Amino acid sequence: MICVIFNLRIEQGRYGYMKKIAVLTSGGDSPGMNAAVRAVVRKAIYHNIEVYGVYQGYLGLITDDIHKLELGSVGDTIQRGGTFLYSARCPEFKDQAVREKGIKNLLKRGIEGLVVIGGDGSYRGAQRISEECTDIQTIGIPGTIDNDINGTDFTIGFDTALNTIIDSVDRIRDTASSHARTFIIEVMGRDCGDLALWSGLAVGAETIIIPEVEVDIKDIAEKIQHGIDRGKKHSIIIVAEGCMSGEACAAELTKYINVDARVSVLGHIQRGGSPTGEDRVLASRLGGYAVELLMQGETAKGVGIKDNRLRATDFDEIFNTANSKPINQRMLELTKELSI
Ligand code: F6P
Repeated sequence: MICVIFNLRIEQGRYGYMKKIAVLTSGGDSPGMNAAVRAVVRKAIYHNIEVYGVYQGYLGLITDDIHKLELGSVGDTIQRGGTFLYSARCPEFKDQAVREKGIKNLLKRGIEGLVVIGGDGSYRGAQRISEECTDIQTIGIPGTIDNDINGTDFTIGFDTALNTIIDSVDRIRDTASSHARTFIIEVMGRDCGDLALWSGLAVGAETIIIPEVEVDIKDIAEKIQHGIDRGKKHSIIIVAEGCMSGEACAAELTKYINVDARVSVLGHIQRGGSPTGEDRVLASRLGGYAVELLMQGETAKGVGIKDNRLRATDFDEIFNTANSKPINQRMLELTKELSI
């Protein structure tokens, strides 16, 4: 009985019973996006809601590349990297007339809810839709390797990218050690230093350079030199792309010390691969939660996980830069203490 009442309450959306929703993946892809789409599709169908996949992100919304998804459409996808819905960056969607086209394509199918899996830019598109058409509820799921979205401790794909970096740097360390070289490894993350900080700690890097902290190359050079003087055979420097490029870092460093430095830019390898267990579980939990929120009539919110609890945060709050995710200072301090 309790269960029946609960189901009735949860399935009753703002506009009565929600019957159709759509899902898209947008911006830079991330491992675990497929698992999130799968969770949205399966959870919705479980609750008798039809699901449509919008292909190529917002571009597909404009071009009407929208197709019904069935239970089988998401079979055998949980372990796959990338996104079977494809993704695209779509600057045209900033234009209101273009957005109107996309909104019409949803409305003509009777779609009342849209789940957007992506980063900050993708959330902004969703927010605009919910502002301009109150008949469409929108929920964002954080899908990016950058871990740069407010309202969640972790974004989908971060853990997999982190493990890819660790694996790559472990390999680089072998050759760095054989040749007694300093290696500068540039990692992604846009303006966020999390990938650099976490990977730096995990691989035992001598130095981590992130955008959140002012960089003093002379200081870094002295530290490397000090290590060499103490008999250290090689050094690993992890530099976040949002701070400077690996090449720029090498050029600066060699102004102060004479090292045989090599630069390795890991690039898009960080975005691929089968999602880790962490990312699959996170994606499944957030995908399911997004559908729950739509059924409850919620809109203009991003889902996330904080202290291992599911959370929904208004887009407005997510975009408020005053709430920007701070870098973990204790972790940063620890990396310094451990890399002496
Ligand atoms: O946002 C994810 C990300 O991989 C960033 O880390 C990186 O700066 C950017 O996308 C690269 O974008 P693109 O794939 O369009 O070159």
